[in-house]
Amino acid sequence: MTEKDRKRSAGCRAADLVEDGMVIGLGTGSTTAYALERLAARIQDGLRIQGIPTSLQAASLARELAIPLTTLDDYPEPDMAIDGADQVDDRLRLIKGRGAALTREKVVAAASRELVIVADETKLVTTLNAPVPVEVIPFALQPVILGIRSIGGEPVVRVGVRKDGPVITDNGNLILDCSFGSLASPEETEGLLSLMPGVLSCGLFCEFVDKTTVILGGDQGCRVVKR
Ligand code: A5P
Repeated sequence: MTEKDRKRSAGCRAADLVEDGMVIGLGTGSTTAYALERLAARIQDGLRIQGIPTSLQAASLARELAIPLTTLDDYPEPDMAIDGADQVDDRLRLIKGRGAALTREKVVAAASRELVIVADETKLVTTLNAPVPVEVIPFALQPVILGIRSIGGEPVVRVGVRKDGPVITDNGNLILDCSFGSLASPEETEGLLSLMPGVLSCGLFCEFVDKTTVILGGDQGCRVVKR
């Protein structure tokens, strides 16, 4: 099985958990895209749902696939959010934000009754150790860089791939990718980062573990992990 196959199988499994009438948070990234494709196929077969996109990418894909969209203004408590992750540990804590959509993803995850994370099984780790994305308002960039260094992180401004200069998020902000090495206490790091003035949010998602289901696509099929 290729990585794409593993992602597709996780995404499809998540889409099959969706029930008629639900309002679903639509996550960002390549694995969630498979869930959206499967949802679109189910809509063709009569499933009625509405989606709340977490990014311009998710909104545009949902429109292409004819998935009806709504907003948190109309549905502030979605039934479920389906989203990807960059790393997952065995306590279901996450690092997210490779696609720079972490803030809206966190808002939708917090608002939703259930969070379903879809990922290729190689994302499962014993200890979270990937760089943590942090969304920061441009005005606060330098103080936030100093603040992150003072708690042991090494921040790097994320730059565009097919654009010169920094990545600008859907909210008009910057991303700092912050290396901390192995995170002994992801909750503490999340708390410290989130409290820094000018930080909009960070890619550590530690507070949703009780409502999180992780679907890991592997060579032998999907593994579903819950607390
Ligand atoms: C978007 O900002 C991210 O949080 C993604 O959900 C995460 O990076 C997973 O993406 P893939 O499914 O493409 O690996």
